[in-house]
Amino acid sequence: MLKVGVFGVGHLGKFHLNNWKEIEGVELVGFFDPNDDAALAVTEKYQLPRFLDSGLLMDACDLVDVVAPTNYHFELCEKAIRKGKHVFVEKPLANDMDEARQLVKLARESDVKFQVGHVERFNPAFLAVKDLDLNPLFIEVHRLAQFNPRGTEVSVILDLMIHDIDIILSIVKSDVKSISASGVAVMTDTPDIANVRIEFHNGCVANLTSSRISMKKMRKMRLFQKDAYIGIDFLDKKAEVIKLKEPKDSNVFAFDIDTPSGKRTIAIANPPVPEVNAIKQELVEFKKAIEQNTKTIVSEIDGLMAMDVAHQILQKIGNNVLAR
Ligand SMILES: NC(=O)c1ccc[n+]([C@@H]2O[C@H](COP(=O)([O-])OP(=O)(O)OC[C@H]3O[C@@H](n4cnc5c(N)ncnc54)[C@H](O)[C@@H]3O)[C@@H](O)[C@H]2O)c1
Repeated sequence: MLKVGVFGVGHLGKFHLNNWKEIEGVELVGFFDPNDDAALAVTEKYQLPRFLDSGLLMDACDLVDVVAPTNYHFELCEKAIRKGKHVFVEKPLANDMDEARQLVKLARESDVKFQVGHVERFNPAFLAVKDLDLNPLFIEVHRLAQFNPRGTEVSVILDLMIHDIDIILSIVKSDVKSISASGVAVMTDTPDIANVRIEFHNGCVANLTSSRISMKKMRKMRLFQKDAYIGIDFLDKKAEVIKLKEPKDSNVFAFDIDTPSGKRTIAIANPPVPEVNAIKQELVEFKKAIEQNTKTIVSEIDGLMAMDVAHQILQKIGNNVLAR
């Protein structure tokens, strides 16, 4: 049995509890949360012991699951690694680059497995296309959310855009060449809406818009590459591929068009989207990595790289932020 303790049982922490309960071979040992109301609700609903000392809970676990607000990630992760516990930490990895680098160093020097909660890597719409031959030259992303005070301890870049930054870094096999960005602090003291252009050394350009002050939700990524368009709808869990010269099969609607270079076939496909609960899947994969001593799918380095780009973006935004 893998003994798990959950640190932070607010909005997302409860999803983690629900999913850990469903995963075979896991024993939920208890939880730690300084908020009495949150703790009472969980003790009643889950019949799970509340620990008042985070260190004692860590001592009783094999795996420390950090779902506390971002400004507590560093202290909880550091303590857990020093105690030799495997760590799953929600995104973003930490509050700033200094903390993130320290965590990476500590994790590397230890024997523990470490995974960051970039859950969109396990989104069924992304799983449907991730093994295609992805080599985008242009990426357009919109991640729009309605305003919610939860998460506003960090900017929209670290709260929402970091999901897309991580996905893009996992797809584009090239280093970042330059970044330009602008953002506006409308409801909070940090950017609530931002537009960013990332250029990569291989010529790929990603244009990202993230907002947490929109009326409607949207989470779409569109990839354009030689001979193909790939659309990923993270919210509605749909994927679409439009390809030139794809052989026709039952899954594909294809038609011929005239182009300057002659007749081509355009094929439109909706690749099958697996029925996957992304949060459960990321936890299952983490458990597997611990048991089989393999690499975690979203490592501490991935978490650091996403934060590095996010912080470059925040630096670029700098004085462009029009605070209230
Ligand atoms: N992967 C995702 O898509 C996603 C979505 C939402 C939130 N998150 C991340 O999850 C984390 C938590 O977000 P949330 O929306 O659940 O926030 P929340 O405010 O709903 O819950 C946080 C809980 O942590 C508790 N807490 C505060 N200090 C703590 C400490 N030192 N130790 C343990 N618990 C502590 C709070 O009392 C609260 O109950 C954040 O880092 C956020 O960025 C990730």
